[in-house]
Amino acid sequence: MSKGIFITLEGLDGSGKTTQIKRLADWLALCGRETVLTRQPGGTVTGDKIRELLLSSRSTSISPMTEMALMFADRAQAIAEVIRPALEAGKVVLCDRYTDSTEAYQGGGRQLGSELVLELHRIICGGLNPDLTLLLLPELEPSLERARKRNQRTTKDAGPDENRFELEEEAFHRRVWEKYHEIACREPGRVVLIEGALSIDEVHERIVQAVEKKINVLK
Ligand code: TYD
Repeated sequence: MSKGIFITLEGLDGSGKTTQIKRLADWLALCGRETVLTRQPGGTVTGDKIRELLLSSRSTSISPMTEMALMFADRAQAIAEVIRPALEAGKVVLCDRYTDSTEAYQGGGRQLGSELVLELHRIICGGLNPDLTLLLLPELEPSLERARKRNQRTTKDAGPDENRFELEEEAFHRRVWEKYHEIACREPGRVVLIEGALSIDEVHERIVQAVEKKINVLK
């Protein structure tokens, strides 16, 4: 049994996860909790190589199955090298994306379905589920609008090597959003859904409340 607390942050690209995870790490530090901050894909030497392969638009010939397998390969390494050791040492692990991303992006976006993703999660992640998942899910339409704008910007300014997922079409982002919503409805005990047009401070406030509650329950 792990002694630490495993918290994941999830959401669409551009949902403000990165800002929030840093603020949460600062808050935990103020509370005196030793925290390990990591992200997926990436977070280990092997994982960073997998990340490069996965996010480069040059790797366009990656099939959905390969993509999913690489996400899990990255995750297996992160669990072995970073997540389990930190939890066993009693630390708080804050992970930017985990299996919910695979279910939303590969299961939903790429239409591989949830069943396959959850079965692989069971086998490869050995049942390591987050204690708490904070899902930042602003309304669908404004999210799509932001993705559209980012797409135009990146295609225009940044050349051909932008994040493949950010360059996906609208229907893909819609399926990702819907799958995230489905996960939140299916697992309300684990997933805290933070939705609506909230300011950065308001989202931070909600996150802190959810984390405090979980810490008290796990005491
Ligand atoms: P990243 O640049 O880290 O984006 P963000 O800051 O939005 O997290 O890129 C991660 C991308 O990888 C993101 O578009 C989601 C995608 N992804 C998957 O498709 N499946 C997964 O299992 C994971 C972990 C990420």
